[in-house]
Amino acid sequence: MIRVDLSGTKKFVSGKFDKQAAKAALDMLVNGTGEGNDFIGWVNLPVNYDKEEFVRIQKAAEKIKANSKALVVVGIGGSYLGARAVVELLKSPNYNALSKNTPDIYFAGNGISADAVLQIIQMIGDRDFSVNVISKSGTTTEPAIAFRIFKELLEKKYGKEGAKERIFATTDKARGALKTLATQEGYETFVVPDDVGGRYSVLTAVGLLPIACCGIDIEKLMRGAQAERECCMSQGVDSAAVQYAMSRQYFAADGKTVEILAAYEPAFRFMAEWWKQLYGESEGKDGIGIFPASVDLTPDLHSMGQYIQDGRRMLQETVVFFDETEASLQVPSDEANLDGLNYLAGRELSYINQKAMEATKAAHIDGGVPVTEIRMPKNCAEAVGALIYFFEFACGVSGYMSGVNPFNQPGVEAYKKNMFRLLGKPGY
Ligand code: PA5
Repeated sequence: MIRVDLSGTKKFVSGKFDKQAAKAALDMLVNGTGEGNDFIGWVNLPVNYDKEEFVRIQKAAEKIKANSKALVVVGIGGSYLGARAVVELLKSPNYNALSKNTPDIYFAGNGISADAVLQIIQMIGDRDFSVNVISKSGTTTEPAIAFRIFKELLEKKYGKEGAKERIFATTDKARGALKTLATQEGYETFVVPDDVGGRYSVLTAVGLLPIACCGIDIEKLMRGAQAERECCMSQGVDSAAVQYAMSRQYFAADGKTVEILAAYEPAFRFMAEWWKQLYGESEGKDGIGIFPASVDLTPDLHSMGQYIQDGRRMLQETVVFFDETEASLQVPSDEANLDGLNYLAGRELSYINQKAMEATKAAHIDGGVPVTEIRMPKNCAEAVGALIYFFEFACGVSGYMSGVNPFNQPGVEAYKKNMFRLLGKPGY
């Protein structure tokens, strides 16, 4: 379903991609023989998910849609980015401003800014709302603070019993402060499976509940992921995902240690944020890793374009592009033609966007940047489900190829320890 076009990298390949290393990494991932193998539940998730919980997610989403004008999703990192990425890509970055019959969605607890929280409270106003608090560990400070605030708001507005009906907790099945709190307060809970780490959890309740609340068909999302899983499993090293993994590792070994993910749709911005977390946390350890960056094109051609074309040559670029776009809008014709734009009159914007992509790709290749193209058939739930699985699978293979454990994140603890000490948390 997802295709990879490596023609824009050929000029930079003198040897061969390391198929043997890719095969070994693939085997480690699929057979569960690599480091971190207790966190690879996501590999089979599209076919092996909790069907009973899936139905409960759909029911909870219906309940929230019926009784709430806004949903506050409290979470950070892997407990935040996936849902936002899918909602923005499939609905719109302007989803809240659009007229619709589904609740607005606000993301809280992904930082500690007072302004950010106060603005959400202001935007909710006196409208009915619900909260989905998401934390696998159940102990992360940022969402814990935000949840206290929104829980208190709900309890003031609806009373303790009423609030209970509007709080949905997604967390570990047995451990953590959030699980204890949810059990004690009687919230409906959803599970982050033990063997699925935060950044690989978008296709669990972590992502699925907020996504379903925004009116996205989560069955189609899972179907797309299933189809992509099938491609990865049946095609092995020849699959698009493994080709992508091999290519990025080849260029990293050649000194191209920064990968820029580029897309030509502003709706893709948070998908790129999700991708950065996925690859950054999975590969950036032990003093190695490809630094994941992103650009929004064509806007960033007028800011980062100069650097990509001409700056330090440590870049590889990956472009995500849709074969088809649904929106149709043409450049109007103008008799006076004072802006000299009549040569484009009647042209679809999607056509011009495609040409901008082709032109940029050629320019970047000329400038010494290998460009990989990832093609999605169109922007629909199935294709997005497929893209998610594609990136996750490629990340697992790529991480193992580079020699790291792609499923831990020991570095994330460093700032926490310092912050707890500065804040006077007992025990630090
Ligand atoms: O990918 C990860 O594991 C992290 O980014 C976590 O998702 C993030 O730190 C939030 O953790 P938690 O869900 O435990 O609150």
